Amino acid sequence: MQLPGPGVFGPPKDRDQALSVLRRSVELGINHIDTAQYYGPDVANELIYSALHPYPSDLVLVSKVGAGRDETGGWLPANKPEELRAGVEANLASLHVDQLGAVNLRSGEAGEPNDLFDAQVGAMAAMQEAGMIAGVGVSNVSLAQLERARSITEIVCVQNAYNLRDRGSEPVLEACEAAAIAFVPFFPLGSAFGASVDVTADQAVINVAHRLDATPAQVALAWLLARSAQILLIPGTSSVGHLEENFASASLVLDDQALHELAAPTPVTATK
Ligand SMILES: NC(=O)c1ccc[n+]([C@@H]2O[C@H](COP(=O)([O-])OP(=O)(O)OC[C@H]3O[C@@H](n4cnc5c(N)ncnc54)[C@H](OP(=O)(O)O)[C@@H]3O)[C@@H](O)[C@H]2O)c1
Repeated sequence: MQLPGPGVFGPPKDRDQALSVLRRSVELGINHIDTAQYYGPDVANELIYSALHPYPSDLVLVSKVGAGRDETGGWLPANKPEELRAGVEANLASLHVDQLGAVNLRSGEAGEPNDLFDAQVGAMAAMQEAGMIAGVGVSNVSLAQLERARSITEIVCVQNAYNLRDRGSEPVLEACEAAAIAFVPFFPLGSAFGASVDVTADQAVINVAHRLDATPAQVALAWLLARSAQILLIPGTSSVGHLEENFASASLVLDDQALHELAAPTPVTATK
């Protein structure tokens, strides 16, 4: 999401740098990349194809459907079953693959009628059945929606906002842990868009980073990895330096003192 231009719209400021981020990620051994046709639109997937095709055999490309863009970059819903199918077809074409590793159904606004949600999940299941996607995921879901989706088809991953300072999706994470579903938090660092709290500016995070000779971003990411074995990380970055820094968080061990300091009571923003 950080590779296209500002506002996830249009081409990157520096195309060579965007391609370098992708190539370096695979060199480091990263085998899971989160994307969407509507990042750009059409920009992120074209960059992934240009940088990485032919893809390493273990690379899992995960996309999402349910939204579109207008000509000024505004976000539009595109979540009718036929629009979901068109979205998956567009991802397959732009990434030049026959099958996507997983595709997340990006749920609509709170209060979306259950019958529409059921039809959306049914459309995703049909695409899995047809071999277009290996696994069905859901995104921006409440616990009730997750359970509803699971009653229709197997769900392999959930992508909700979640980080050290925004734990509103804790019940959804716990359900994923109980059912061995991957939980893939978006805004793990608190977002580039002011949509969440900037975790790297949190004083407790800064203090722990200082004591452990790490960066605040590494502490924020290591906390997520320590929080649950079901968590897979997709921190967004346009920078090779940040990519390498974030990758190194996998080997940062947070000691008991750090976990205690980071566990301070936090405001919980409930997801719908
Ligand atoms: N399912 C959904 O509805 C949904 C919604 C939003 C996002 N997502 C997905 O989740 C991914 C992560 O979310 P996000 O990118 O919005 O937010 P994020 O990962 O929480 O934060 C990204 C921001 O952090 C900065 N950053 C990255 N590494 C850093 C470091 N080591 N030190 C300091 N700053 C650093 C990035 O700037 P630089 O570019 O300068 O590194 C960028 O501004 C997205 O890329 C997208 O794939 C999904």
